[in-house]
Amino acid sequence: MRWKEQLLTLTPYQPGKSIESVKKQYNLEQIVKLASNENPFGCSKNVLSALQSHQPGFAIYPDGYMTSLREAVASFLKVGQDELIFGNGSDNIIQIISRALLHPGANTVMATPSFSQYKHNAIIEGAEIREIPLLDGQHDLEKMYAAIDENTNVVWVCSPNNPTGTYVPESKLTPFLDKVPSDVLIVLDEAYYEYVFADDYYDSIELTRKYPNLIVLRTFSKIYGLASLRVGYGVANRSIIQALEPAREPFNVNSFGQVAAIAALSDQEFVQDCKKKNRQGLTQFYDFCERHNLSYYPSQTNFVLIDINADANQAFQFLLEKGYIVRSGSALGFPSSLRITVGSAEQNDGVLKALGEFLTQQNTAKLKLN
Ligand SMILES: Cc1ncc(COP(=O)(O)O)c(C=O)c1O
Repeated sequence: MRWKEQLLTLTPYQPGKSIESVKKQYNLEQIVKLASNENPFGCSKNVLSALQSHQPGFAIYPDGYMTSLREAVASFLKVGQDELIFGNGSDNIIQIISRALLHPGANTVMATPSFSQYKHNAIIEGAEIREIPLLDGQHDLEKMYAAIDENTNVVWVCSPNNPTGTYVPESKLTPFLDKVPSDVLIVLDEAYYEYVFADDYYDSIELTRKYPNLIVLRTFSKIYGLASLRVGYGVANRSIIQALEPAREPFNVNSFGQVAAIAALSDQEFVQDCKKKNRQGLTQFYDFCERHNLSYYPSQTNFVLIDINADANQAFQFLLEKGYIVRSGSALGFPSSLRITVGSAEQNDGVLKALGEFLTQQNTAKLKLN
């Protein structure tokens, strides 16, 4: 076979460990998964009743235009129906964008560490990747701008950023958008948008009106609690959407996902409740960090990146054996940090208690060495 050469350098996406595999391996009764930034409160009850009454006709393809979902999202965001593109998760839209715009000879600019799929897809398409290190956990937009040249086709801005949880304030974003050439697509990935509470966050949908080279990505996987159904969308000027559409595979959002997303969108009370509980949960993590003198990035998401001053893989393993699946920072560019999804108050207490035990064990070992 003559595989694309760049595929040989890649490994498949490493998902967080599954609950079932950990239960079996460590003989545990209960597992708490705080590794993939899913919603610990599940999804709206509206979703369950909509799915119960959904009669899909299994033999029939889903609506490839996502008509009802398109109407619902367009009306919710007050955008035109032709200003939306839907994907099998926002991962799929990242793939569509890469497929449409990246190729050998083109380059793409992104922050590092940031969400892995920008780079992964760019490698597959054979584009040159220009990674700009975060500055204090934040996108360094000045350096990202300086990296753009006549061969740059896509710039990725992840705000709030995975894995740091930090966001780009409006005062930094708009001067950047003003400067980026109009033939470069700027992707603003807002997978965690609904969790944001910062006052100086921007109205990104409004920005798509002002900047015709901007696309905003959102998802139903996070606060809406529909990660298993895979629904994400992009919002942009209609000329961007028209250009991307041929790169989208037909029927890429299944019928259950479409029905569930409409129902999820209709329950904003659930969304607000999760947002509130998440914010309270974040304070449990911050209090813990302050008590243990650990540094962390203040987060606008449903996860926190904590520098535990120890080997992240060891801490990961310790927590795993206690029934908590978190994300080791070592694969995310932070070898002494853990990225932990904010769970319910009880789950947060549990994982922090276990982390406290790990830190005590580490300190005792250090004292012995001294
Ligand atoms: C920043 C960011 N973008 C996109 C995604 C992909 O989300 P999905 O494909 O489930 O919509 C994730 C998932 O973790 C993410 O963290």
